[in-house]
Amino acid sequence: MPNDQRSAAVTYASYLKVDELLALQQPRSKGPEHDEMLFIVIHQVYELWFKELLHELDRVRRLLEEDESHRAQHTLKRILTILKVMVAQLDILETMTPLEFFSFRERLEAASGFQSDQFRQIEFLLGMKSERAIQRFVAGSRAHAALERRYREPTLWDGFLHYLAREGYDVPNGLLERDVIAAIEPSADVQKILVELYRRDTKNAELCERLVDLDEGIQEWRYRHVKMVERTIGSRPGTGGSSGAAYLRESVGHPAFPDLWAIRAQL
Ligand code: HEM
Repeated sequence: MPNDQRSAAVTYASYLKVDELLALQQPRSKGPEHDEMLFIVIHQVYELWFKELLHELDRVRRLLEEDESHRAQHTLKRILTILKVMVAQLDILETMTPLEFFSFRERLEAASGFQSDQFRQIEFLLGMKSERAIQRFVAGSRAHAALERRYREPTLWDGFLHYLAREGYDVPNGLLERDVIAAIEPSADVQKILVELYRRDTKNAELCERLVDLDEGIQEWRYRHVKMVERTIGSRPGTGGSSGAAYLRESVGHPAFPDLWAIRAQL
């Protein structure tokens, strides 16, 4: 084999880029303050889970496009397992007391989870899109480009409605051709379809239940995050410039797929 084609044997460290990964945790506090390491590690872990969630959510949408509902459900199950881990991980950060957090908080300056583009990408995929959220990122950056792309893409709900239409359900054309940038509004027509589906179509009722799990999982994360925020910074404003817990409470309890929740009273 010519020299230039011979590469070193793959190792655990070379495959996973362990040296690079371990060089990425850089506390800003003097000392540094003990808890800043946990704060950095946990946020980095979340960003990796967000990346994996996006990878899997894209797959669910694609599988629905290909009418592979069984495999879509399988992937949704994986997503839900990840979400459970993500919610549970907040327990670790809750071992950090307010005083431990305040020992380095000012070093965060205006940095905040508010600026997580991957979290916004997940919201966009679930139909919660906002032009303003894109404009917070520098034009030409990776984050800006990713959000621009997802802003124009159909949401997971759009993929699901198209799938239902191909399964023979009478989804109104207005919904199949809706503007994918617009918020997902409750629809009496879709609710009628879903009630019928739950009564007669076990396969697709299962799929709907997995979508409810996903919706509930995201809401669970929001709820646990705001509780953690309340116990750590109380009613103080956020580093990202919002009112803090009061701002976060506004999005708790808002479903991504309102029709799937509305039908519960009719089943
Ligand atoms: C002590 C721990 C934490 C505190 C005190 C905290 C505080 C806050 C506050 C106050 C906000 C509102 C925006 C602002 O003005 O800054 C926020 C938003 C956010 N945080 Fe945290 N956070 C913490 C941990 C985390 C962790 C571990 C994650 C995981 C990635 C995270 C992700 C987010 C996200 C995605 C938002 C935007 C939510 C939205 O706009 O609905 N936060 N956080």
